[in-house]
Amino acid sequence: MLLIKNVKIVSCEKISEEQDVLIEDGEVLKIGKIPASAGMTGKKAEMTVINGNGEFLLPGIIDCHVHFRTPGQEYKEDFESGSKAALMGGVTTVLDMPNNVPPIFTNELLEKKRAIVSKMSLVDFGLYFGTNGENLDEIKKVKNVAGVKVYMNVTTGNLLITDPEVLQKLFKVKQRYALHAEGETFDLALKYLLESSNEFYLCHASLKREVDKVRDLKKNGNKKVFMEACPHHLFLNKEDREKHGGYCCVKPELASLEDQNALWEGLKDYTIDTIATDHAPHTKAEKESEKPAFGVPGVEFSLPLMLNEVSKGRLTLQDIVRLMSYNPAKIFGIKNKGEIKEGFDADLVLVDLNLEKEIKNGNVVSKCGWTPYAGRICKGWPVMTIRGGEVMMREGRIVGEGKGKEVEFG
Ligand code: NCD
Ligand code: ZN
Ligand code: ZN
Ligand code: ZN
Repeated sequence: MLLIKNVKIVSCEKISEEQDVLIEDGEVLKIGKIPASAGMTGKKAEMTVINGNGEFLLPGIIDCHVHFRTPGQEYKEDFESGSKAALMGGVTTVLDMPNNVPPIFTNELLEKKRAIVSKMSLVDFGLYFGTNGENLDEIKKVKNVAGVKVYMNVTTGNLLITDPEVLQKLFKVKQRYALHAEGETFDLALKYLLESSNEFYLCHASLKREVDKVRDLKKNGNKKVFMEACPHHLFLNKEDREKHGGYCCVKPELASLEDQNALWEGLKDYTIDTIATDHAPHTKAEKESEKPAFGVPGVEFSLPLMLNEVSKGRLTLQDIVRLMSYNPAKIFGIKNKGEIKEGFDADLVLVDLNLEKEIKNGNVVSKCGWTPYAGRICKGWPVMTIRGGEVMMREGRIVGEGKGKEVEFG
């Protein structure tokens, strides 16, 4: 048993008074004022007590867009290094994209990936399925995935689909679709959305016009559209592209300050549903080459960057829980996650809003060894990450070794 004493529990709605959380068998057993002697009736019962010292306890972050590169590109990242980086950033669940080598187009490849990943991941995980537009029978058979990822623009990997006939046929198959659609294809994606009975999760919003369009759709009562924003589009813009070259090369590309501000508005007015990182690690050599690979890492620093905005008053802790844990669980139907609640998984992150620390390339845990946020000072950091009742990260160190499990999609 694990007892966390004296924490303020954060939900989307409110922050509680100081309370205690009792954990057994990976789940939250009880919340309230709990004496350290609770559950000590049996002789064998062991109780570990952690004093939260009045700090904030959030449900573990669910990052619904990562590229951990297993299988096939483990030289950039693998599920072990990626999941350790995740724990550093308070992330206890990730949803991983299918642009692997080879891409996950068949159930056989999916099963293989599942088997490898469950042996490597220190966080809970869910997987997306891939499509080339020709594997509709495979899509109809697929079980327990986050959704089908559709790449409508050129990006890292070989999964591009542009043929409108193929896309139209695809979106008729019942599934949740996660879309990479930018520029003109964003409008096309919305057209398909209106024709389809499926839910569309629009990845990595980057432009004001995209946010405006989704705001209108939601105002008109559309309940099938969901929008994601990523830290690099929230914290970096065109100027960084000019300053940092290949290291800030990402799809969709970094946009203007006006676009950046529109994303922040979208976060506050419920147009944007989630913050996910699109953690897309590439080696330094790949970023420094003539033709830099698209993508930036993010899973380690998304939460501290957002907590720093809480310190500055731009966001609340409740906003963070809504965008980074509660909504991801709701949208993807992930069972027993996204809230701190009796009977739910004990995925928790303790944050210290007063801790001030600089982000440094030298501290990066991701295999890629760099971050586009180096040099920034964040006030507000995760100081403990608990996944399935096990303390996995404490004060910037990975201390747990238990493996995560695949999530269940409802
Ligand atoms: C991603 C990658 O590297 O896998 N790159 C990126 O620029 N975002 C792919 C993607 O999400 O488009
Ligand atoms: Zn993408
Ligand atoms: Zn930069
Ligand atoms: Zn991506």
